[in-house]
Amino acid sequence: MIPDDFEYAVRLMKERSGLVLTRDKSYLLENRLMPVVRQHNFKSFHELVAALRTGDPALQSSAVDAMMAKDTAFFRDWKPFVHFSKIVLPNILFARRDRRQFRVLCAGVSTGQEAYSIAMAVRDAAAQFSGWRAEIVGVDLSDSAIAAAIAGHYSQFDVQRGLPIKTLLRNFTKDEGGWRLDGDVRDMVKFQTWNLLTDIYPLGRFDAILCRNVMVYLDLQAKIDLLQKISRSLADDGVLYLGTQEPLTGVSAAFRPVNRDLGIYAVHRLDKVQLGSLALPQKH
Ligand SMILES: C[S@@+](CC[C@H](N)C(=O)[O-])C[C@H]1O[C@@H](n2cnc3c(N)ncnc32)[C@H](O)[C@@H]1O
Repeated sequence: MIPDDFEYAVRLMKERSGLVLTRDKSYLLENRLMPVVRQHNFKSFHELVAALRTGDPALQSSAVDAMMAKDTAFFRDWKPFVHFSKIVLPNILFARRDRRQFRVLCAGVSTGQEAYSIAMAVRDAAAQFSGWRAEIVGVDLSDSAIAAAIAGHYSQFDVQRGLPIKTLLRNFTKDEGGWRLDGDVRDMVKFQTWNLLTDIYPLGRFDAILCRNVMVYLDLQAKIDLLQKISRSLADDGVLYLGTQEPLTGVSAAFRPVNRDLGIYAVHRLDKVQLGSLALPQKH
């Protein structure tokens, strides 16, 4: 790969998504962008970069989309979802009893499994939340991921990763190509394409925000900015879920750990007792 092409592509990815790529990742750049080269009938990576340099927005978006790591799974890491069901939902039931509504944001939701896992957890508690309005919002930079999320149709492989069989049968219907999520779970989630480098306040305020396995790819300044935006969009008693490999030390002082090993944080203003009441006990 011509060094100049590499530099250009790295700069484009950083500006458009916050993704940082070091020199040793040139194989990754080439691997992930090769399908874009083929799709647009370019003869080489160099030809693709030449076309990207002309500033074609659609081509730039598909190149950025292709670079994103979109791996995800239903109930990924499991325990954060136990925390959501056992701690956050009962807290909401009490604290929002007058308004009878709550909102959850899945930022960097990829193909939707994370948001639908939250929706299935809410559906499990439906008897307690009768007459409530629950709104789950899933956003991602990737148009292709958001299209897949809206479709709500998953392969056998996708559902085998993380979905207990009872949960699968309760919420999905099998068809020829895989498994289709039931309409009422799909209707609980609104998906849209959104770049987290931009402001997120137009999305409104949230009682819980999941931004898991997204920041790990971002440069330090993009992490700092995103956490600041999240802290402004999260309710004072809200909970933030990050990936388990995304420590906040040195990145943000706006949050305090609730269950650090599970990537669960609360807004800094909460006192020790309030923090303790949000923690998931060890036995779970
Ligand atoms: C590894 S997936 C994580 C999916 C899910 N949160 C999980 O933990 O299973 C990371 C997602 O973040 C998205 N992403 C990365 N940078 C983004 C940005 N600047 N704005 C919005 N989404 C972004 C990617 O497109 C990708 O779908």
